[in-house]
Amino acid sequence: MSDQFDQKPPITTTDAGIPAPSDDHSLTVGANGPILLQDHYLIQKMAQFNRERVPERVVHAKGTGAFGYFEVTRSASEWTKAAFLNTVGKRTPTLLRFSTVAGELGSADTVRDPRGFALKFYTEEGNYDLVGNNTPIFFVRDPIKFSDFIHSQKRMPDNDMRSHNAMWDFWSLSPEAMHQVTFLMSDRGTPRTLRHMNGYGSHTFLWVNAKDEKFWVKYHFKTEQGIENFTDAEATAMTAEDPDFHRRDLFESIQKKDFPVWRLEVQIMPFKDAETYRFNPFDLTKVWPHSDYPPITIGRLVLDRNPENFFAQIEQSSFEPANMVPGIGPSPDKMLLGRLFSYPDAHRYRIGTNYLQLPVNQPVAEVHSYNKDGAMRYRHNGNQPVYAPNSYNGPRADTERYQDPLWFSSGELVRTAYTLRAEDDDYGQAGTLYRKVLSATDRDHLASNIVGHMSNNVERAVQERALAHWYKVDNELGSRIAQGLGIAPKSELTASAD
Ligand code: NDP
Ligand code: HEM
Repeated sequence: MSDQFDQKPPITTTDAGIPAPSDDHSLTVGANGPILLQDHYLIQKMAQFNRERVPERVVHAKGTGAFGYFEVTRSASEWTKAAFLNTVGKRTPTLLRFSTVAGELGSADTVRDPRGFALKFYTEEGNYDLVGNNTPIFFVRDPIKFSDFIHSQKRMPDNDMRSHNAMWDFWSLSPEAMHQVTFLMSDRGTPRTLRHMNGYGSHTFLWVNAKDEKFWVKYHFKTEQGIENFTDAEATAMTAEDPDFHRRDLFESIQKKDFPVWRLEVQIMPFKDAETYRFNPFDLTKVWPHSDYPPITIGRLVLDRNPENFFAQIEQSSFEPANMVPGIGPSPDKMLLGRLFSYPDAHRYRIGTNYLQLPVNQPVAEVHSYNKDGAMRYRHNGNQPVYAPNSYNGPRADTERYQDPLWFSSGELVRTAYTLRAEDDDYGQAGTLYRKVLSATDRDHLASNIVGHMSNNVERAVQERALAHWYKVDNELGSRIAQGLGIAPKSELTASAD
């Protein structure tokens, strides 16, 4: 802004480009008289002002973002034919939007919450959106539970306040959440900045190479800035000191050319392995241990450009897990399959039917679809035929070259959980995290963070039910939480949610 200070300003106009009559005065009958309906300029200003907001995202409302590029450092063509991953040195423009999950548009950045890590690759074969979080797992494994989970995190119907009781009630009745809750309650639930955390694709995806061979893949974006977290007390203090702390940090870092970088590692599972792996590799509440599928570095992501207009480029950005380019497809992860529907539906409601025509959402690849018209559509293909098949050289699908990446499935129609395998349980990986990954300090913080969170207006019966799960994650952790909450030892408790 400061470099604009001394420049000669342009003339104000209406939104139709007509020179405006005044920046200061409405049109009135005499200096003290009534305002006239014919003051089109005043009415345009007021009417437009009343329409400045679009609905905020129903989740992940508070966020920020930046542009950059993804660069391939090792070709992935042995596993996927995705063109943007096939050549060392190839760069693809990207947009990354970070967010908290539960808070509203103006909420504080540093609260305990997972962080969204939504990436758009503007590839030569269309947009590829990888809409992940800063954790490799999630709270539930069936999309039918997602809105209930979110309702337990957001405001209650009577007092419009958030309720720790509702959160622990839901979690303690949903034991599959324990791994993610362990992550969330650790200091990784309060990252110091958005630059100092990892991003994960979280789901398992399908990759298909040029020879039509298939692989399962997981994505990990590892921060090159190093992991840094706030303690619970530091994060809470920062919510008051600077509610926009994360937003400011990212913007200012990029402004001073301290560009944040993430290394992309992938875990590759041969297609056939999934059938016999010891637990369901598509279950979003689990990671693949690195010892089974070692991470392979294939590229780096750099953020080097701030938005010029936050509303147009970040607020109106849209990310949809269904945007997958040739060589990449979904897996049988039920959560991912549910999300394929949900996001474009949200965008049509939140931004409008032609949201993909907004500059930030437009692909760099050419668009030749048979969809037409609708509010605010302005891109078109002239007099291109509007139906297919047609005799007039309208676009034709290349069915030889581009096929859906598919897997085999058959069975009766059922409403049931995934079939259990030998090592499918809700506690094992959370326990490994506690015992083998967290340092002694991390474990101390985890226990005290849980005790603090569960002590905030959570009913005794709910505390006890949740505690039974903590014992199953790790006996020692359970004991520490019981002690912190002043609850009787384990032997007197039963897990009613089993
Ligand atoms: P490894 O020892 O090979 O990997 C442990 C992973 O934990 C590393 O990716 C590391 O990622 C991450 N990590 C380190 N410190 C923390 C922390 N304080 N909080 C959360 N994650 C941390 O073991 P496994 O692959 O067998 O995984 C063991 C457990 O680690 C899992 O049960 C899971 O809870 C957790 N984990 C596993 C991941 C995976 O993809 N396998 C990914 C993240 C966590 P970093 O480089 O960021 O330090
Ligand atoms: C945003 C639905 C699970 C990450 C959203 C939005 C919806 C939604 C409706 C708002 C979209 C918008 O208005 O633009 C769902 C459903 C889920 C689910 C139905 C499960 C069935 C997940 C999971 C992750 C995730 C598992 C991460 C692994 C995100 C992110 C955003 C988001 C990062 C913000 C995107 C942005 O920055 O615009 N989700 N979600 N969601 N979701 Fe989900």
